[in-house]
Amino acid sequence: MERQKLIVANWKSNKTITEARRWIRTFLAHERKSYAQYVVCPPLPLVQSVFEMSEGEFSLGVQNLSPFDAGAYTGEVSGYSLQGFGVGFAILGHSERRKYLNETSRLVAQKVDEALAYDITPIVCVDMDYAREQADQLSHDHVKKVIIAYEPVHAISTFGGKEDPLETTLENIKKLRTIFRDETKILYGGSVDKENAFTYLEQNSIDGVLVGHASLDPVEFAGL
Ligand code: PGA
Repeated sequence: MERQKLIVANWKSNKTITEARRWIRTFLAHERKSYAQYVVCPPLPLVQSVFEMSEGEFSLGVQNLSPFDAGAYTGEVSGYSLQGFGVGFAILGHSERRKYLNETSRLVAQKVDEALAYDITPIVCVDMDYAREQADQLSHDHVKKVIIAYEPVHAISTFGGKEDPLETTLENIKKLRTIFRDETKILYGGSVDKENAFTYLEQNSIDGVLVGHASLDPVEFAGL
């Protein structure tokens, strides 16, 4: 593989602190792919411990962010509060949040503003139905700075895990580049595991993968 690929673990609402520590020890001890830049996105309470144990071997991300900056917004976590924890990425607008928490593309765009204000790279999740709407909500300047995770909802393991044929995925990624920008980094997500990861990663037009279920096992994740 000529260029680096971003391999992002989305643990969702899984793992205790003990499980997270065990995961990191195993992951760090395991052989990993030379072409990968790994990003681990744990649940928020685990961010500090994961950061302290990372040994600079992987980057750290969060799975959500406040649409507001620091202030009177009970329960929200702003980019301001995350300073000092080494958070480099934020998964924003995941389809689970759009579905269960009614997150809108407008709200996601506000979260993008907050992330970028603190040098956190937004990984904005889209399916084809709302990719255009999401792009329209982003400011011209911010479109240049986001990474897109193309996640067809039906391909996500917990929503059925039905993968599209590779050609369909590649066609949709091409469309996404016309909706966002030619240069936009695009990750693919939805039931990526060690059996199929390379099929995606070897594609020139795919800059990496966003991995849910298969990221829960450190050995599987290291082997993607
Ligand atoms: P999955 O999840 O790999 O379990 O399908 C991907 C995601 O929801 O980001």
